[in-house]
Amino acid sequence: MATDTLSVTDNRTGAEYEIPIADGAIHATELRKIKAADGDFGLMSYDPAFLNTASCRSAVTFIDGDAGILRYRGYPIDQLAERSTYLETAFLILFGELPTKAELVEWADEITHHTFVHQNMKQLMEAFRYDAHPMGMFISSLAALSTFYPEAAEVDDPEVRLLEAKRLIAKVPTLAAWAYRHSRGLPYVYPDNDLSFTGNFLSMMFRMAEPRYAADPTLERALEVLFILHADHEQNCSASAMRSIGSSRVDPYSAMAGAAAALYGPLHGGANEAVLRMLAEIGDVKRVPEYVERVKAGDFRLMGFGHRVYKNYDPRAKIIKETADAVFEVTGRNPLLDVALELEKIALEDEYFVSRKLYPNVDFYSGLIYEALGLPTAMFPVMFAIPRTSGWLAQWLEGVVDPEQKIARPRQVYVGADERNYTAVDDRRAVAVA
Ligand code: CMC
Repeated sequence: MATDTLSVTDNRTGAEYEIPIADGAIHATELRKIKAADGDFGLMSYDPAFLNTASCRSAVTFIDGDAGILRYRGYPIDQLAERSTYLETAFLILFGELPTKAELVEWADEITHHTFVHQNMKQLMEAFRYDAHPMGMFISSLAALSTFYPEAAEVDDPEVRLLEAKRLIAKVPTLAAWAYRHSRGLPYVYPDNDLSFTGNFLSMMFRMAEPRYAADPTLERALEVLFILHADHEQNCSASAMRSIGSSRVDPYSAMAGAAAALYGPLHGGANEAVLRMLAEIGDVKRVPEYVERVKAGDFRLMGFGHRVYKNYDPRAKIIKETADAVFEVTGRNPLLDVALELEKIALEDEYFVSRKLYPNVDFYSGLIYEALGLPTAMFPVMFAIPRTSGWLAQWLEGVVDPEQKIARPRQVYVGADERNYTAVDDRRAVAVA
């Protein structure tokens, strides 16, 4: 009769072990029972970059990378993108259910009333150089926020956790918009509590002398869709950083500064910025084949293509492509769109990309929309971070109350020198420092 166990024979010793299988996984600590000799540490699994290691149980986001499926709390991403708002989706991601009408009104009201930041934050941002990267400003201001809310360190208090989650979701658009205004040398715009989440963000970004900024409804909705699509993506690099840092029981502002730093990298949230630079560098549809050849030769990667989990078209990329069409109706067509479409067409037919299952990911078209909205490329990762805040917080909230979790502390396979004696400085050989 089939049992939910894995039978292992250690050929070093001939010993046999039965390892329980639960939820399609074995517990890595079970391997520690497998020892070559008494006093042996026990077997470890070696998994650089966590290619096949689940680090937590999570009920937030489901992805089937082969089928191109993404769901938040069970709801398909396309339904949420079509019918929900970012704030409603954030509530769903954090608390597990869609809010009732009354809950949604209260939630939106609370978020709206936490959008202001301490005036000292303005001074902090003003201290950055005129050409500071807005993501560097954003990351720093998140860490700085922790100093305004020392009670946030009480991570075992559910009320504190909830309050800080609301504050963070509410304040990130303010920090993001101010980082942008700084880069443009423009005065910072304070939040307008009568506007929607995205409407207020666009106002803080683009308001000039007018008494009230009225965003184009198509662009406001497009931003809602982009925010919904970027809200969570299970155990990606930054979510994993958020959980890992949070496992030390630090406050969520500090943990989120670390998560945002992880997002900044060009292989993660910085990819949309890299896509736009790439499209601008290609410049013309005629140059696409030559560029693709250089990618295949290994000169560089095609940014916005490929994904650790999706081995199919990223479902978010499909929705973003449609959103881009709606945006371009208002803003006019981005000339780089033709380069992107040609690049996608050639890559999807090419054996190199087909055999490696490399498809456009979420970042391939999002940058074109951000550019059409008038944003400089340096703002793109910041635009990713605003909605991802709800995902980071949901992952963090799940982690801090999970009784199975402890402080994150991977093992290593030590490959360094054996014990040796200290040598006097005159007896040493020069080291090639890489
Ligand atoms: N262009 C060309 N070749 C690629 C690309 C690409 N974008 N991505 C992967 N490959 C090749 C890679 O060279 C390797 O080929 P080979 O087997 O011949 O060595 C093969 O495909 C597998 O690549 P990998 O590096 O093992 O794949 P990974 O799962 O570690 O990397 C990735 C995933 C997203 C880092 C990678 O696809 C990449 O660098 N893409 C470009 C950056 C990008 O668009 N990032 C945004 C990701 S989506 C948003 C987010 O989650 O932040």
